[in-house]
Amino acid sequence: MEKIRLENEAATVAYACELAKNIEAGQVIALSGELGAGKSVFARALMRALGVTDEALPSPTFALIQTYDGTNCKVAHMDWYRLESADEIEMLGVREYFHAPWICIIEWPERNLSLLPSESIIIEIKTDPDDFQLRYLEQR
Ligand SMILES: Nc1ncnc2c1ncn2[C@@H]1O[C@H](COP(=O)(O)OP(=O)(O)O)[C@@H](O)[C@H]1O
Ligand SMILES: [Mg+2]
Repeated sequence: MEKIRLENEAATVAYACELAKNIEAGQVIALSGELGAGKSVFARALMRALGVTDEALPSPTFALIQTYDGTNCKVAHMDWYRLESADEIEMLGVREYFHAPWICIIEWPERNLSLLPSESIIIEIKTDPDDFQLRYLEQR
């Protein structure tokens, strides 16, 4: 698996914009990484590139699921951080968002990896202890 260096936030945003070009409705994008890694930065850039024009893109940490209209798609932005059991996540009805017209972006997918469709794009973002702006990204 290739490790991509993202030198700063702008590089992360640019990477998300590139990814958006290859995403279609029905796709699930899982964003893994510790607190502050840049999952939400990535998610917001992806949403913007998918045509979401809402002024505010609040974190779904408390709402758990935020939904938007994009260009030729709908976008669901989820954060499973506060969810403890796999059942709890299932009960939210998240599967509905795994199909067109939805594009589903999930932060903290490790709360229930078994729920992710096998064709999901899984992105892991890691920080660097010596450079606060540097991130390493792996995509599979
Ligand atoms: N290369 C980078 N990519 C993404 N975010 C970065 C980068 N360098 C610094 N940052 C900062 O790291 C923080 C990431 O926060 P956030 O996206 O909310 O993290 P998470 O959702 O993973 O908890 C932001 O304050 C952002 O400005
Ligand atoms: Mg976040």
